Amino acid sequence: MSEIVARLSAALGPDVVTSQVPERNHHDWSGLPPVAPLALIRPRSSDEVATALRLCNETGTSVVPQGGLTGISGGAHPVHGAVALSLERMNRVLAVDTQMATLTAEAGCILQTAQDAARDAGMMLAVDLGARGSCTIGGVIATNAGGNQVLRYGMTRDHVLGLEAVLADGTVLSSMNTMIKNNAGLDLKQLFIGSEGLMGVVTQAVMRLQPRPTHSATAFCGCPDTGAVLALLERARAALGPALISFEVMWPSFYDFMRAGIGATHPLSGPHGAYVIIEAGGFDDSLRARLESCLAEAMEGGAVADAVLAASLREERALWAVREAVAEYARILGSLTAFDVGLPLDRMDSAVRQLEAGIAQRWPGARALSYGHMGDSNLHLVVNVPQAGPDQPSAAIKAFVYGVIRDLGGTVSAEHGIGAIKRDYLAYSRTQAEIDTMRRLKSALDPRGILNPGKGFAS
Ligand code: LAC
Ligand code: ZN
Repeated sequence: MSEIVARLSAALGPDVVTSQVPERNHHDWSGLPPVAPLALIRPRSSDEVATALRLCNETGTSVVPQGGLTGISGGAHPVHGAVALSLERMNRVLAVDTQMATLTAEAGCILQTAQDAARDAGMMLAVDLGARGSCTIGGVIATNAGGNQVLRYGMTRDHVLGLEAVLADGTVLSSMNTMIKNNAGLDLKQLFIGSEGLMGVVTQAVMRLQPRPTHSATAFCGCPDTGAVLALLERARAALGPALISFEVMWPSFYDFMRAGIGATHPLSGPHGAYVIIEAGGFDDSLRARLESCLAEAMEGGAVADAVLAASLREERALWAVREAVAEYARILGSLTAFDVGLPLDRMDSAVRQLEAGIAQRWPGARALSYGHMGDSNLHLVVNVPQAGPDQPSAAIKAFVYGVIRDLGGTVSAEHGIGAIKRDYLAYSRTQAEIDTMRRLKSALDPRGILNPGKGFAS
């Protein structure tokens, strides 16, 4: 046992610190080769997190914070010589306050558990993504996770009212604000939201709740092409206003392959140039009729070729099945490189064409599946190159894709963050002055650079 592990174990006990790290903590969903952490620390309280970080800081030991391990950019992926700090035991919902419309939870609370607690209280936690059953509140905050309802409710950042974080030196920074308005000085929580564990370890948070829509309607549409999808988006926005919750697109490369992969039935007859899921949610019973007439007009105008409206909640879920099969990608596709780029909507069609054609030409036999949160200008691309074997995420594919996105004026990360796999491309989307400022803030909070080294904007 190394000296630091012995010290951690002496301070926190062998129940909290183990050098027999389970295989599960050797990797996340990024596809990077597994790395065994020096030790796994599983604190039960913020004080124990503080003790762990203080000792690591004193000894210059690197720390990789871990939540549900569902990140795709490698933010929680272990680093050689680092300990892993898992929040899995700090998993409670601490309070739901329907008057203030807030939910307070520990960082290791599974997102779905928090969603269920909000629902049981008659409200809604509107952070939602495919990995809801495994990802944690701390993880979604650390990555500023997006998901399928961002168009209506915003990114995770828009749901966090307050949080507690432990700094590298063990300082417990409690900023558990519950009020929508609090303009007293700097809003320090923003330093921790979306900074991928580089600035501190989030230990608990106050999340904003929403009234739960009383009515919902979900449509699955076949559109002739990307231009038609954009025309449909404009119509849906105008017809549904704030009731437009999700507008998700799947191009045939993704839809046909993944549908076969999970064995789902096609809700429409005949192939189409693009598929769109529209989800509407609101508080009056005209919702379904409004969505129906929006689709009828879109059909007349040629933006939609065929569409189906779910008749029950079960049918609604079925229409989402292919779109939500994220956890199945690796099983169906093998090792892969996943992208979450963003770009102005008028360049979306060109991006999909350039990327799919460019990959097919450079890597014959490769699979490039395109889909995304069209309402948020966010394009996902999942690529498998058989000849690259397990050497994926592939550097050559990343260089090609990010080059195209940079030239189109987009961002290398719309929602998954930089993590370990996009470090070389941060400068494609941020200026040198921006990156330097991020690093100055980092060195103020973590002068020895122990938190998640080699990730994100860490130097
Ligand atoms: C999705 C994840 C991968 O939207 O961001 O499917
Ligand atoms: Zn996404």
